[in-house]
Amino acid sequence: MSGTQARPPAAAVPHHVAIVMDGNGRWATRRLLPRVAGHKQGVDSLRRCVQACAARGVGVLTVFAFSSENWNRPADEVSGLMELLVAALGREVPRLAADGVQLHFVGERAGLSPRIAEGLAQAEAATAHNQRLVLNVCFNYGGRWDMAQAAAKVAAQGLPLTELNIDRAMALAHVPDPDLLIRTGGEQRLSNFLLWQGAYSELFFSDRLWPEFDEAALDEAFAAFASRERRFGQTSAQVAAGPAGTPSPGPGVLDSASH
Ligand code: IPE
Ligand code: IPE
Ligand code: MG
Repeated sequence: MSGTQARPPAAAVPHHVAIVMDGNGRWATRRLLPRVAGHKQGVDSLRRCVQACAARGVGVLTVFAFSSENWNRPADEVSGLMELLVAALGREVPRLAADGVQLHFVGERAGLSPRIAEGLAQAEAATAHNQRLVLNVCFNYGGRWDMAQAAAKVAAQGLPLTELNIDRAMALAHVPDPDLLIRTGGEQRLSNFLLWQGAYSELFFSDRLWPEFDEAALDEAFAAFASRERRFGQTSAQVAAGPAGTPSPGPGVLDSASH
């Protein structure tokens, strides 16, 4: 535990935190363990992170667990990750349900086995009533997939392809855009994560490998977030003048404004 003293004040806590949980493989390799052992450790780290976020008043946590591109990994790692997902669902969902977590799996279901797809749907149904923290697990997810599926959905509805209509059709339409986007593991790239929704997210890169990303590291990211000035295209003086002159970059504003 990092202790309560290190915690930032509530107002400084981002409402929506998104995380690229990277570095599991390196964590395992450094210990001469198979990569899947790192992913197992990664599940433990996620459990701690969910609890820490809920304790700090975060409303939404969105994590990248398996990308559209991760199918290109060795077959044994891919099957290990699928097994881990099934095991984690069985073990973690009752606890998440009891802790007030509302679980969503975000990504393409078509590519998943029926057993996994069924497990995801059951986990969502079991936690749908919860209100304390929304946890979006991006699995078989890619930002480009999301944009393409949203555009296809809007077109199929016969609606114009406006920002507002696309936004409403995106896989994360049930939550506001992320305020803070963290990537662990030292790489400084998005790797196809939240390409649309991350337009105005504050970025924070940590050298810690995901299994080692603890509460103190989370508080460090929150402290960095609290020190940022979010301008959304305005000047610093406008932001200082207060909310009257500070539009959000939301699609409602974008669609109603004439640029
Ligand atoms: C992230 O950790 C988890 C997944 C992509 C499933 P990695 O497995 O990418 O770990 P590194 O980057 O190889 O260390
Ligand atoms: C991004 O990590 C995907 C997840 C964390 C699930 P990767 O390890 O797959 O990203 P790259 O390949 O280094 O860009
Ligand atoms: Mg990686």
